[in-house]
Amino acid sequence: MSDPIFLRACRRESVPHTPVWFMRQAGRYMPEYRAIKERSSFLEMCRTPDLAVEITLQPVRALGVDAAILFSDIMIPLAAMGIEVEFAPGPIVRHPIRDRATVNALRVPEPEESVPFVLESLQRLRRELPPHVALIGFCGAPWTLANYVVEGGGAKEFVRMKQLCFEDPVTAERLLDKLAATNGTYLCAQVAAGAQAVQIFDTWAGILDADDYARWALPHVQTVVRAVRATGAPVIYFARDSGALLPLLAQTGADVVGLDWRVPLDQAQRQFGAGIAVQGNLDPAVLFAPWDEVARRTDRVLDRAGRAPGHIFNLGHGVLQGTPVDTVRRLVEHVHARTAAARKQG
Ligand code: CP3
Repeated sequence: MSDPIFLRACRRESVPHTPVWFMRQAGRYMPEYRAIKERSSFLEMCRTPDLAVEITLQPVRALGVDAAILFSDIMIPLAAMGIEVEFAPGPIVRHPIRDRATVNALRVPEPEESVPFVLESLQRLRRELPPHVALIGFCGAPWTLANYVVEGGGAKEFVRMKQLCFEDPVTAERLLDKLAATNGTYLCAQVAAGAQAVQIFDTWAGILDADDYARWALPHVQTVVRAVRATGAPVIYFARDSGALLPLLAQTGADVVGLDWRVPLDQAQRQFGAGIAVQGNLDPAVLFAPWDEVARRTDRVLDRAGRAPGHIFNLGHGVLQGTPVDTVRRLVEHVHARTAAARKQG
């Protein structure tokens, strides 16, 4: 019974209220974050445990969320593979990975040597967090990471990874294999260091149709999920823009599937069946609306999620810049109060 509510919801056990956390709950919308950002670069913030721990705790204190997510980035474990990444503010890969020789030269590093700062931050967070707040580790999904490293950074249309898949499928596959191996051991090391659940971010899953998703993305997500299985920690798989992929998301092996705001949660639950919990999925832009509208839209998400165990409240994507902090705080309070009252009524 002493398990954090968030973890119980991941396992589809009954909980006294629906747990809440937010993707990108730390970030520029918070004045405390901006104060640190003024003095340090994003990479320093990720690589310095004192800073990463403090930034991870900021939204826990300010919002009352049920889980903390390590402050880091999906691109952080790539440096030790041999892929240099800068941030401005999105990731930039100055030497994009596009040919077989470069892919062959990429390493699959040991996390203890390549990201000791991540493991130290998690160890310290486990000690500093109140016991009812769960600690989430994370990584990027191989398909999403591959798009950044082959494209050279963010893009309006990600086309170069697809191009590599068409022109040299062996090299594309090898890159995805190395990303999956690196991130599988990376997540296991995070759990060993104190992460109680992990989330795999597949932000760009939605640029694939179902056939290509099944060919290029799904098998590598399955590899990462399988790697984590032995640790016993629940795995959350978040796929943005994945309405067309729903039947395939159930095949990832994840305990929880996170969805963006375009997919009604009841539809996803019907598609997945009772064995998978769902996470989401209020449109992050709704937080710019007057409070009554925020509450109305939040209630609609909660109604669609229903009363059965296995819902974690979140946004459909990260908290946007400029979001009023007080609205986010009220939202946490509202979800807790409304779902606690609904459970008392029975
Ligand atoms: O959720 C959290 O609070 C934990 C921290 C976190 C960050 N990035 C911090 C960050 C997490 C989990 C991520 C994951 C991440 N990084 C994803 C997957 C989730 C998503 O948003 O789709 C992706 C695609 C990235 C790559 C990335 N890093 C992008 C596209 C950007 C620029 C976005 C922007 O806000 O302009 C980053 C930089 C980044 N990562 C920032 C933060 C707080 C902004 C850096 C700054 O403060 O200047």
